[in-house]
Amino acid sequence: MNPKRYDCGMQYCRCGKSGVLLPKVSLGMWHNFGNLTPYETSRQIVLCGFDNGITHFDLANNYGPEPGEAEKRMGRILKEDLKAHRDELFISTKAAYDMWEGPYGSWASRKHLTASLDQSLRRMGLDYVDLFYCHRYDPETPLEETLQCLVDIVHKGKALYVGISRWPLHALEVAEAYLREHDVRLLIYQGRFHLLDRAPLEEGILEFLQQISTGFISFSPLAQGLLTNRYLNGIPSDSRMMEGRFLKREVLTETLLKKLHALNNVAHERGETLAQMSLAWVLHHPATTSVLVGVSSTEQLEQNIRCLQSPPFSEEQLRRIEEILA
Ligand SMILES: NC(=O)c1ccc[n+]([C@@H]2O[C@H](COP(=O)([O-])OP(=O)(O)OC[C@H]3O[C@@H](n4cnc5c(N)ncnc54)[C@H](OP(=O)(O)O)[C@@H]3O)[C@@H](O)[C@H]2O)c1
Repeated sequence: MNPKRYDCGMQYCRCGKSGVLLPKVSLGMWHNFGNLTPYETSRQIVLCGFDNGITHFDLANNYGPEPGEAEKRMGRILKEDLKAHRDELFISTKAAYDMWEGPYGSWASRKHLTASLDQSLRRMGLDYVDLFYCHRYDPETPLEETLQCLVDIVHKGKALYVGISRWPLHALEVAEAYLREHDVRLLIYQGRFHLLDRAPLEEGILEFLQQISTGFISFSPLAQGLLTNRYLNGIPSDSRMMEGRFLKREVLTETLLKKLHALNNVAHERGETLAQMSLAWVLHHPATTSVLVGVSSTEQLEQNIRCLQSPPFSEEQLRRIEEILA
């Protein structure tokens, strides 16, 4: 492993008003850490990230396939490769999407969140995670039940920090106040924010997070690969779109393809790839703490990390990007 991992260009950003610094590029394990991928490929991606200064790895109970497989793989990598480095790692997991059969296998009850986190810890062989998220807003469970459960999880030492993902603004406001009143800070919000989807900006979530000094991490910042060179000349046989589970062919319309080519031209003029420009654009928003990328190879990861060397955007480039996407 690379002893100079903190000396090779990774940058760290304070996560809101907290003691935590997160790498500006973090690694997500939603794809390529399940049974469709050789274990050695998953392992090399994690080790490549760590060697390049990525300290934050994002999981969820159900990442696979099979659900739980990504956490099992992470557990094995932690045991066999990174045992001596636990305190250099910031590991997150989540619960609230479907995980097991029956009435307690999903959503955000105390019963589900508590049992799911215990399962995650067992799969990863950990005593605690650094960050535990409620993965989605549950309109049926009283918010106080979910939030008190998050408080208790921190007080029991099973997670050092808590976050929420994909919650609407009104529930985020309640969460921040409840947790603060119970001496637990909301560390971070995880939402989808990229060139093609600005929902957290349009819904006022980013502005609120800045007001309350809470971090923001953007998931799928490359729109699952659309905002890269992957689909500019057809659909590669080894791509996520060809696999077809979460990225459907229908999204790649002629109109979108034209826009992607035009964005690619802007990226080339800036001396970088479309993936790098797309990540730099998300990081350029002052609310963003980190971009949470997924990759199917170490080459993709190394390329993405180089977005930290991207030149600043000129007003003219930002205007052209908006014109292309209008
Ligand atoms: N909170 C939530 O509800 C939620 C939802 C979704 C994701 N997430 C988190 O966000 C993480 C990232 O999501 P994501 O995997 O959708 O992220 P993404 O970075 O938008 O897309 C990743 C895919 O883009 C392609 N790619 C990445 N870098 C590339 C490069 N340099 N050149 C060409 N292609 C490249 C690869 O596709 P190929 O596989 O085709 O090579 C890769 O699998 C997840 O692992 C998870 O941790 C959270």
